[in-house]
Amino acid sequence: MTNTPDFHSKEKIRQDAYLEKLRTLTEDLFAERKAPLTFHVVTFGCQMNAKDSEKLSGVLKAAGFLMSETEDADLVLFNTCTVRDNADQRLFGRLGRLSHLKKKRPHAKIALCGCMMQEASNVEKIKKSYPYVDLIFGTHNLYRFPEYLYTMYTQDAPVIDIWEKTDDILEDLPTDRKYPFKSGVNIMFGCNNFCSYCIVPYVRGRERSREKEEILAEIRTLVQSGVKEVMLLGQNVNSYGRGLEKACTFPELLREVSHVEGLARVRFMTPHPKDFSPELLQVIAEEKTVARHIHLPLQSGSTKILREMNRRYTKEDYLSLAERIRRDLPDVAITTDIIVGFPTETMEDVEDTLDVIDRVQFDNAYTFIYSPRRGTPAAALPKALTDEEIHAAFDRVLARVQHNARIRAGLLEGETHTALFEEVNEKDPSLITGRLSNNMIVHVPGDPSLIGSFRKVFLKECHGFYYFGEIAKE
Ligand code: 5AD
Ligand code: SF4
Repeated sequence: MTNTPDFHSKEKIRQDAYLEKLRTLTEDLFAERKAPLTFHVVTFGCQMNAKDSEKLSGVLKAAGFLMSETEDADLVLFNTCTVRDNADQRLFGRLGRLSHLKKKRPHAKIALCGCMMQEASNVEKIKKSYPYVDLIFGTHNLYRFPEYLYTMYTQDAPVIDIWEKTDDILEDLPTDRKYPFKSGVNIMFGCNNFCSYCIVPYVRGRERSREKEEILAEIRTLVQSGVKEVMLLGQNVNSYGRGLEKACTFPELLREVSHVEGLARVRFMTPHPKDFSPELLQVIAEEKTVARHIHLPLQSGSTKILREMNRRYTKEDYLSLAERIRRDLPDVAITTDIIVGFPTETMEDVEDTLDVIDRVQFDNAYTFIYSPRRGTPAAALPKALTDEEIHAAFDRVLARVQHNARIRAGLLEGETHTALFEEVNEKDPSLITGRLSNNMIVHVPGDPSLIGSFRKVFLKECHGFYYFGEIAKE
C-alpha cells in the first residue's frame, strides 16, 4: 500500500549488505572459537509470530548460524506474545532461567522481539531486571534484523529499537520454513477493530494489506519450492484490501489463490463475523481447494457483552451466520474462540454463551479466561464476577464445548477423507499425523515417507478430538 518500490529496494539492499557483513563476522568467530555459531528461536503466540520466527531463523541461517535444538546456544531469541498475561509471565520465567547461560557461555547473546516488546513498560522491566539481554526490537522493524544482529556483535551496549508504527511492508527476508510442504502467507498486518479487551491493535499497529500480485507471486514461488498448502494470515482477513492501489476483496483474493497451479489446499485465519460476506461463503462453496474449515471467533454469546467488547455483531447475527454456514456448507467445520470473565459479564451472559455453543455445535473451540491488558478500554471496567465464579463458568463452558466437539468429531467415523500428512507422532513414532481439510487430526500407522503427501484415509476410530485411521486404497 504506502509501500513505495523505492523504499522496498533501498531497504532490501541495506539489509542484504548487513547479511553479507554478518557472514564474514560469523566466519571469523567460527575460526576464532573453532566452533560454528548456534542459535535457538523460541516462539510464543499466534500463526503470525510463527511466520515471523521462520524469517528470523532464515536470516540467522543465511548469516552463517547453525540451528540448535536447545537453549544451550550462542544466540537465544524469544519472539514474544502479549495477548494474555500468562504469555508475558511465561517469557519472564524463561528469561530468568536463562541467566545461567551467560555464565556458562560468556559470548552468548540473548535477544527479544515481538508483540510484548511494543509495550514500553515491558522493555523498562527487562532493562532493569534482566540487564543481560543484548537485543530488543518490536513488530514493526523485524525486517531490520540483519542490521540489529550486526550492531549487536560489533558494539558493547545492548541494541534496543522499538517503533511506534510503520506504513511499510518488507516481506522478502530469507525464510527457514518449518514445514517444506505448507506455509503461512501474510496477506495483511495490524488491526483496526479495537475490540475493547484486545491489545493487538496497539502492538501490531494499523491495518495494512499487501498487494494481491505480491501475495500471488509469493504463493507461486512457494509452490515451486514444494509447498502444497498455504494459510492466508491476517488479524481480520474479511477487511483485506482496504487502501490498496488495485481494489481487491478477500473473497476475490481467496478465489485467485485457490486457482494457483499446483496448490492443493488453502486455509485462512481469521475472519471477523461482523463482515463475513455472502461472497466469501460462495467462494468456499465453489472452490474445493479452499479448506472445509472456518474459524469464526465468537468471544461471547451475550449481545450486551458483545457490545461492550466492541465486536459489532449481536448474538442473533452470529447465530444466523453460523446457521447459514451449516446449511450452505454442511461439510465445513466451524471452530471458535471464547472469552470467559470479561469484566462486566454476569452468569446470565455466560448462559447466553452456553446457548450459542449448543446451537452452533462448534467442531472445536479455544476458551480463554479474560486477562486485563494495559491501555485497553476493558481494563478500566469494574468486575462483576468473583474469580471463583469465573473459574466455575469457565469449567462449564469448556465442558460444553468439549461435549459438542466430541459429537461433531464422531460424525466422520467410518468415512474416508483426504489428509495432508505433517509429522511423526510425538508420543508414538510408529504413527504419522495428518490433517483433514476440516482441520481434524488423524493418526495412521506408517513411515515418515508419508510426510508432505495428501492421502486418502479411512477414519477408523474417533478418540474425542482426533482419529485413528488407516491409509485407504487410492
Ligand atoms: N483476554 C483473554 N483472551 C483474549 N483474547 C484476546 N485478547 C484477550 C484477553 N485480553 C483471545 C480472543 C482471541 C484469541 C486470539 O485470544 O479470544 O480471539
Ligand atoms: Fe499474535 Fe496477538 Fe500474540 Fe501478537 S499479541 S503474537 S498478534 S496473538
